[in-house]
Amino acid sequence: MVGTKFETPDPYSYQIGFNSYHATEAVRGALPIGQNSPQKPAHGLYAEKLSGTSFTTPRSDNKQTWFYRIIPGAAHPEFKPEHNEYYSFKSRTENFHMIPNQIRWDPFDLDDSVTFIGGLRMLAGAGDITTKTGLGIYIYAAGKSMENEAMYSADGDFLIVPQHGDIDIQTEMGYLYVRPQEIVVIPRGIRFSIRCPTGPIRGYILELYSGHFSLPELGPIGSNCLANPRDFDAPVAAYEDGDEDYTIYCKFDGRLFSTVQNHSPFDVVAWHGTYYPYKYDLGKFNTIGSVSFDHPDPSIYTVLTAPSDRPGTAIADFVIFPPRWLVQEDTFRPAWYHRNTMSEFMGLICGSYDAKEGGGFQPAGASLHNTMSAHGPDASTYEKASNVELKPTKVSTRSLAFMFESSMMIGLTDWGLNECKKVQQAYNKESWVPLKKHFNGPKQGRADLLPLNNGKKNGNGNGSEFR
Ligand SMILES: [Fe+2]
Repeated sequence: MVGTKFETPDPYSYQIGFNSYHATEAVRGALPIGQNSPQKPAHGLYAEKLSGTSFTTPRSDNKQTWFYRIIPGAAHPEFKPEHNEYYSFKSRTENFHMIPNQIRWDPFDLDDSVTFIGGLRMLAGAGDITTKTGLGIYIYAAGKSMENEAMYSADGDFLIVPQHGDIDIQTEMGYLYVRPQEIVVIPRGIRFSIRCPTGPIRGYILELYSGHFSLPELGPIGSNCLANPRDFDAPVAAYEDGDEDYTIYCKFDGRLFSTVQNHSPFDVVAWHGTYYPYKYDLGKFNTIGSVSFDHPDPSIYTVLTAPSDRPGTAIADFVIFPPRWLVQEDTFRPAWYHRNTMSEFMGLICGSYDAKEGGGFQPAGASLHNTMSAHGPDASTYEKASNVELKPTKVSTRSLAFMFESSMMIGLTDWGLNECKKVQQAYNKESWVPLKKHFNGPKQGRADLLPLNNGKKNGNGNGSEFR
């Protein structure tokens, strides 16, 4: 069956399509026809524009939305800084611990005593928010709903990956209901509030400082597969005309500011445009793989990509390792050993990951294999996978791992390295140090001294050993 079988139903309806132009009104006639800014918008509304790209960005990438709302977003007292050590999220590379070791974290704790904002912790990051380059990685854990509170990030787009508990998100564009095995993207600047309808929540966030996410190109795969555009859901307009005090939190250059306004920020009666939050059920990912031998690069599992200026090189890719059939012949089927110029941060939403037989990589835990940090299957996985009878096998049937992969070197915060107390000190020692030698050749060798079958030596200066 395609799509995830969720325990709780989604109470909302959506507009469908990735990067589609959407238009929606919660009161008939609220959207102006044929223009954006009438002298007097219908129903006494204000027109307000939200720009997600520069005005002059080419049409194919231009993202903007027109709101028709009760009070403009500007109607608030001045923001003041919040004085809480955890709200200083760090924004620049020099504030991070840059270390080459492979790192793995035990599952992060649940905490039902705080709201989403109170339970947001920065784990790692790269780049510089002020120049809109790089990314931040966060863990959230909460149990209290945000009531009369909203936040927005001026720093980047939030890609939220729930691991535990459903999240009910109210945004300026409307509502989204997001469960583990779904993801949601809330672009820069959009105000939102998170409620916890099923109890405690926990998950991962990638904040993208550079540009926006797009779908990866498909090349020879063709015009379908991987994440299909029609499976992305955007909210329909929903508003409240409230006069109660609302605290608005603003994340700006890694710091949290707040203000209290006397009206709801969720007062958008109608909107149209291309800049909006969206969600996606990872169970709808159409997975591609090898049906002969070897396996392609894990880029075939890319759900969303945030490209850099270099073709084919991402500031951040969001990659999943979904349930799939492995049928390759004469192939070491788990991920190969490798060293990567890209940095790989992994998390586990549920189940277990097929390259880590030895345990240790658990749901709600994480790992980071930074630029050129060697990694691959642990010793027990190697022994099993290199000896197992190769029959068609379905892997990860009830499991879902994901990766935030970045071309940037990723640094850790104090919280990520020390204060969270989740770093596994014996990760490398338990995973790869036990790998045994299986080599059965002589103690030394040189290709140019190797005799060939006809008695000649290799390497006669003609540039090829194969003659
Ligand atoms: Fe890797």
